[in-house]
Amino acid sequence: MKRSLFYTATVLLGAGALLLCPGITNVQAFGGSGDAKLDNDDCVKCHTVIVDQNKKNGAKHKSEVSCMECHDGQHPPGTEKGSLIPQCTSCHEGQPHFEVAVACLKCHTNPHTPLQINLEGEGQKPVCQTCHPQIIEEIDTHQTKHTGFACSYCHEEHRKRPTCLDCHDTHREGQTFENCVTCHQAHQPLTLAYSSKVVNVDCGACHPDIRAELESGPTKHAGFQCVFCHADKHGNVPSCKNCHDAPHSQQMLSKFASCNECHQSAHGLLK
Ligand code: HEC
Ligand code: HEC
Ligand code: HEC
Ligand code: HEC
Ligand code: HEC
Ligand code: HEC
Ligand code: HEC
Ligand code: HEC
Ligand code: HEC
Ligand code: HEC
Ligand code: HEC
Ligand code: HEC
Repeated sequence: MKRSLFYTATVLLGAGALLLCPGITNVQAFGGSGDAKLDNDDCVKCHTVIVDQNKKNGAKHKSEVSCMECHDGQHPPGTEKGSLIPQCTSCHEGQPHFEVAVACLKCHTNPHTPLQINLEGEGQKPVCQTCHPQIIEEIDTHQTKHTGFACSYCHEEHRKRPTCLDCHDTHREGQTFENCVTCHQAHQPLTLAYSSKVVNVDCGACHPDIRAELESGPTKHAGFQCVFCHADKHGNVPSCKNCHDAPHSQQMLSKFASCNECHQSAHGLLK
């Protein structure tokens, strides 16, 4: 009973397709009897949408495999539904990515356009890991609020980099994404190991008084970048002696607890 219903539906669908394909006059021509032979060029007569998608965005599923290499078998009617559908793993095996627990079609939603990838939803992290293990390692070993997010919370499309400004305010007016990543790294945003490219105006966003004091001073310190002295990592505080070996005699220095008793401070330096 079930089977004959299926057959009727098939024939009706077939007939529908045939209306659009006047070149074909006999339903048996696509395989009911098993006599007629289909060719790759025939598919377009009835499956125009799929052939069109494949032509435009088929990538290697167009250039390296043909319709019939994947759909290898008896075309309906007369065959079990699904029997013409291949398993991805019948051709893709031997790499971690091909052994993921997530259904291939969850991301590669249309096998005829395999590089149009949908990353919506949860659970992709182990899949990303198969090709970007160092990123997962980085984000997991530096626990921040970013660690808890799905990769696709930020990367809605594969190969797309978001900018911090999509989600965060700046520390000062006019700050750009390029500024953000001189201090922060996307997958370990609280590490704050900064490069020597950081300019005073970016430190001054949060330390405005120090910046004003430093830059208005009369000494050579006034021309320096904050990161020249506070190198590498936020919170590093140098000692005067890091840079000034023995400016005065030991005899003189032994009478004073610190350099700043005379020089006031590194920022408001007196000479
Ligand atoms: C004359 C029209 C026609 C031609 C030509 C044709 N098909 Fe089909 N095809 C159909 C119809 C109608 C169905 C739906 C049958 C059903 O749902 O039972 C179908 C179903 C399919 C299915 C789904 C089968 C399943 O098991 O679910 C595949 C795969 C398929 N066709 C591939 C092809 C390929 C590949 C070609 C070219 C080699 C091709 N078809 C040529 C009309 C055609
Ligand atoms: C790399 C393998 C591969 C190639 C090449 C391929 N297909 Fe498919 N095709 C599939 C898979 C897998 C499915 C099942 C998709 C699903 O379950 O959503 C499918 C499904 C179909 C269906 C059934 C669609 C439906 O909605 O039920 C048709 C028809 C079809 N393909 C036709 C074609 C035609 C025509 C070509 C050539 C332009 C082609 N396929 C090339 C793998 C392939
Ligand atoms: C009949 C064999 C066959 C089947 C079945 C098959 N593929 Fe492929 N696929 C290939 C070949 C051949 C290539 C090109 C060579 C390569 O990259 O390994 C390819 C390439 C790809 C690519 C890269 C495309 C590109 O242009 O770089 C993706 C993604 C892909 N396949 C996904 C899938 C998914 C998902 C399935 C299951 C829905 C699947 N394949 C089923 C043979 C197949
Ligand atoms: C979480 C989403 C996701 C899932 C699930 C997924 N893939 Fe992929 N796949 C991708 C992404 C992203 C790429 C990279 C595409 C690129 O390079 O632009 C890719 C690339 C590929 C490629 C081409 C690159 C290569 O290494 O040859 C193939 C083939 C492939 N996937 C097959 C599969 C198969 C088979 C499965 C199921 C076992 C699967 N994929 C499951 C997201 C996914
Ligand atoms: C099958 C392997 C594969 C999988 C799976 C994969 N990627 Fe990729 N991804 C690549 C390749 C290859 C590139 C290009 C790398 C390059 O140009 O250096 C890339 C690039 C990227 C880029 C852009 C890098 C840039 O230079 O701008 C991002 C972002 C990215 N992937 C995120 C992801 C996310 C998120 C996932 C999981 C949903 C994922 N990838 C899964 C292979 C993969
Ligand atoms: C909170 C947002 C966010 C999350 C979550 C996130 N990323 Fe990123 N990712 C970014 C930003 C922003 C960049 C660009 C960084 C840059 O240009 O300096 C980036 C860059 C990348 C790149 C390319 C640059 C590189 O370092 O090679 C890859 C690949 C990547 N992310 C993969 C992933 C993967 C995989 C995950 C999940 C474990 C993930 N990302 C989670 C925001 C995020
Ligand atoms: C897609 C949105 C998104 C993007 C892109 C993004 N973030 Fe976030 N980020 C968040 C959210 C949401 C939080 C958590 C905020 C909260 O709970 O207050 C967060 C938290 C943070 C935190 C605090 C972490 C903690 O554990 O306290 C820092 C620092 C941060 N982000 C910096 C960045 C930087 C720098 C970039 C760019 C490299 C960036 N973010 C890109 C959404 C994003
Ligand atoms: C000069 C270095 C520097 C630059 C450039 C920088 N940040 Fe920060 N950011 C910091 C420091 C330091 C903290 C930690 C402050 C604290 O401990 O309270 C921080 C904290 C944060 C936080 C978490 C605390 C909060 O304010 O919610 C976010 C989010 C953030 N930055 C985003 C950004 C974005 C977005 C940019 C680019 C527009 C950016 N940062 C540029 C140094 C920088
Ligand atoms: C987003 C705001 C923000 C930015 C940008 C910022 N800081 Fe800070 N900084 C703070 C806060 C808040 C503290 C005090 C809390 C702490 O110690 O983390 C601080 C503390 C410090 C300390 C003192 C650490 C100690 O032990 O007393 C130094 C040194 C410092 N910052 C230097 C810098 C330099 C240099 C820059 C530019 C590269 C900079 N900061 C950029 C917010 C910021
Ligand atoms: C990261 C290195 C560094 C640190 C730390 C540092 N200085 Fe300097 N300082 C310099 C350099 C470089 C000069 C310029 C030397 C030159 O041009 O001869 C300088 C110049 C001076 C001068 C002479 C100013 C002038 O205009 O002639 C004094 C005084 C001085 N430093 C005192 C201090 C004191 C006191 C401290 C600690 C509170 C300190 N410095 C910390 C690098 C540093
Ligand atoms: C010439 C080296 C030098 C430069 C340039 C410099 N600092 Fe400092 N900074 C120091 C030293 C040394 C200390 C330790 C306190 C002292 O001895 O004056 C310090 C202390 C600090 C502190 C700790 C709190 C305090 O006031 O003692 C902060 C915050 C700070 N600096 C921020 C900055 C910022 C922001 C800039 C750039 C606008 C900057 N520094 C430029 C050498 C420097
Ligand atoms: C008793 C006050 C006093 C103390 C303590 C003191 N200095 Fe000075 N320092 C001076 C005076 C005054 C000058 C200016 C001398 C000159 O211009 O010949 C000076 C000059 C300097 C110069 C510039 C030398 C030059 O050749 O231009 C440096 C660098 C310096 N001091 C660093 C230090 C450091 C580092 C300490 C702590 C280890 C320190 N001073 C402690 C009073 C002091």
